[in-house]
Amino acid sequence: MEKKGDKVYSKPILVLLGAPGVGKGTFGKKLSKDFHMPIFSTGEYLRSLVAGKESSPLIERVKKIMAEGKLLDDDTIIQIIKKRLFEDEKPENQGIIFDGFPRTIPQAEKLATIGKVKAVINFFNKEAILVEKLAGRRECEGCHEAYNVAVIKKEGYEMEPLLPKKDVAKCDKCGSKLMHRSDDQPIAIAERLKVYHEKTAPLENYYKTQGILHSFEPKKGVTDYPWVKVEIGKIISA
Ligand code: AP5
Ligand code: MG
Repeated sequence: MEKKGDKVYSKPILVLLGAPGVGKGTFGKKLSKDFHMPIFSTGEYLRSLVAGKESSPLIERVKKIMAEGKLLDDDTIIQIIKKRLFEDEKPENQGIIFDGFPRTIPQAEKLATIGKVKAVINFFNKEAILVEKLAGRRECEGCHEAYNVAVIKKEGYEMEPLLPKKDVAKCDKCGSKLMHRSDDQPIAIAERLKVYHEKTAPLENYYKTQGILHSFEPKKGVTDYPWVKVEIGKIISA
């Protein structure tokens, strides 16, 4: 039961669903700019929480869970979301995009009590492709710009590497070092994919039955963005 006094978010919510490495963060950042909807990635938020020098029982717990590729408990995530929904709220925002939330049926049920999900964008790629993308991913430790060293050309997929143009070891945007995420190691990748199938994939059916699931298979990575943007634009304005 929803507690009395819980605020309700009145603008449209766009949810990005999809397995690890499919491109939620990559496409989400572009969609956020193009549709004037701030994006909130629970994964990025948790990574920034554990990246600092501070230590607390919560931070240590999050660090361990993320490195193992497991999920944080639903209650903690919901508290984070409730706080974030109303932070940074500006009249010009057209809604909010969630990347990596909800990730379980209980999280989705809770979200339904605090806001209205307008559409769920379900990105999918073959699992072998996801594993290669994750192993090749590099991230700027300063501004989190995404890069990738993998060259993927098989089974109809064609993804060129995304490398910095000036210096291969540094971010083009802010000059910070590039890093490899602690959960992009083979054992954690396998666990994240397993957890995705067990806990998150059931959301596809949950949202399908509500008639708001839209699935896309971008086979060319960021090169597919122009058509993905057009299709999502139609969905948002419908
Ligand atoms: P999170 O950060 O959400 O990780 P994830 O879901 O595993 O997804 P990723 O960020 O790995 O993938 P993505 O789809 O964003 O892919 P990307 O755009 O980078 O969560 C991390 C952890 O936090 C979880 O494991 C859990 O512990 C915790 N957590 C978070 N939310 C939670 C929740 N709600 N409940 C409980 N726990 C939670 O793309 C992948 C790669 O593809 C990139 O390197 C990109 O550069 C590359 N790519 C794109 N295009 C191309 C191209 N053309 N050529 C080459 N590579 C390309
Ligand atoms: Mg991401």
